[in-house]
Amino acid sequence: MAHHTYCPFACTADISSTEQLFPICNSSLISIFSLFFVPSNSSTKQFSSMVDVPTKMQYVNLGSTGLKVSRICAGCMGYGDPRWTEWAIQEKYAIELIGEIYKRGINFFDTANCYSNGQSEIILGKAIKQLNMSRGRIVIATKAALAVPDDMSFNPAPRDDPNFVNRFGTSRKHLFDAVDASLKRLDLDYIDLYQIHRFDDDIPLEETMRALHDIVQSGKVRYIGASSMPAWKFQKANQIAEKNGWTKFVAMQNLYNLIYREEEHEMMPYCMDAGVAVIPWSPLAAGTLTRKREVKTSRTGNAKWFEETFMKTREQKDNDMIVDEVLAIAEKRGVSAAQVALAWNLSKPYVTAPIVGITKIKHLDDLIEGLDLELTKEEIEALEKNYAPREGMPFTF
Ligand SMILES: NC(=O)c1ccc[n+]([C@@H]2O[C@H](COP(=O)([O-])OP(=O)(O)OC[C@H]3O[C@@H](n4cnc5c(N)ncnc54)[C@H](OP(=O)(O)O)[C@@H]3O)[C@@H](O)[C@H]2O)c1
Repeated sequence: MAHHTYCPFACTADISSTEQLFPICNSSLISIFSLFFVPSNSSTKQFSSMVDVPTKMQYVNLGSTGLKVSRICAGCMGYGDPRWTEWAIQEKYAIELIGEIYKRGINFFDTANCYSNGQSEIILGKAIKQLNMSRGRIVIATKAALAVPDDMSFNPAPRDDPNFVNRFGTSRKHLFDAVDASLKRLDLDYIDLYQIHRFDDDIPLEETMRALHDIVQSGKVRYIGASSMPAWKFQKANQIAEKNGWTKFVAMQNLYNLIYREEEHEMMPYCMDAGVAVIPWSPLAAGTLTRKREVKTSRTGNAKWFEETFMKTREQKDNDMIVDEVLAIAEKRGVSAAQVALAWNLSKPYVTAPIVGITKIKHLDDLIEGLDLELTKEEIEALEKNYAPREGMPFTF
């Protein structure tokens, strides 16, 4: 895939001083700290100025659109409230980190209305304002379809609850409400990429596609995309849009990594054929592909839940063998396992920009450092040889 590399002409930012601001940024301390931290508006003032730092960042078109996105998309699911997910980092650190991500040339940010029940969007919006991020430079993606409760409970889908019955899914009513709520939380005039988090089997595809088209026509959204769903349904939705002259999906956000490759059967060939961008979520398998099993972080409990819920295989050893292979290649090459897992994802011609969850500055630098890592044919074969096909992940609410 053709890409462009960003070579900033000058660097006046003091990276070492930036690093000093993150000395306690190991995950367990963040979690402990975040429990007691009360955000303040002046929190980012002490932070280093918004001057670009040298970066290997590359840019590609989002599928067949003219929109240029960085080859790494910054996933914002981990920015929010530890009551929603225990490994979430809170506002102050999250805003600082978003600034560092931006300075290193990542222009593509993915959030969702349901992440920390709106807090992730609020934090991203605050970062854009407080750090004076150029709106023309960044590409903001968010999603709708899951419920956003008023408290920090995990997103339910209680179809018969009078409080929620119209507050999730892909109906015209809910999508119109949801886009306005996201814009308000993000404090933006428009969203670059608005995605359907899941398709709602209760709602006719025509209704959803027409509603999305009308939202684009209203100017609130520039492009539309979708997340995990059966390939036939995604293709049908785009056919409905095409037949009616409505806006089509230009991007698919699906689960794709070395321990979940079911998308290679149908979705990836369709996207490649149709010129739809693929922006995989959890390319590092929520961290599982980045470390030995015995290593514990604040996220390993969540990563295990992800694995069991979405990437379950018949026998645990199937995934273990893949993790071992990643670690072996990383050791041999003298790079991190995360770099190997990301390089594998990026080696696929249909992958546009994997959405990585960055909650630590050392992870950010590690990923960017690994951007030019090219795996050999033999290494790719070794990484793939132990994959055991498994049931696809559940696509329903
Ligand atoms: N559409 C959907 O349904 C859906 C679902 C889930 C996620 N997403 C999107 O995908 C994004 C990424 O998801 P994810 O966080 O599960 O993805 P991921 O990139 O697969 O996992 C990130 C985790 O990997 C670990 N890690 C270890 N070394 C790393 C390194 N060098 N760089 C980065 N991470 C490293 C970190 O955990 P430790 O701290 O434990 O080391 C980190 O939390 C989300 O923020 C969201 O935007 C979408």
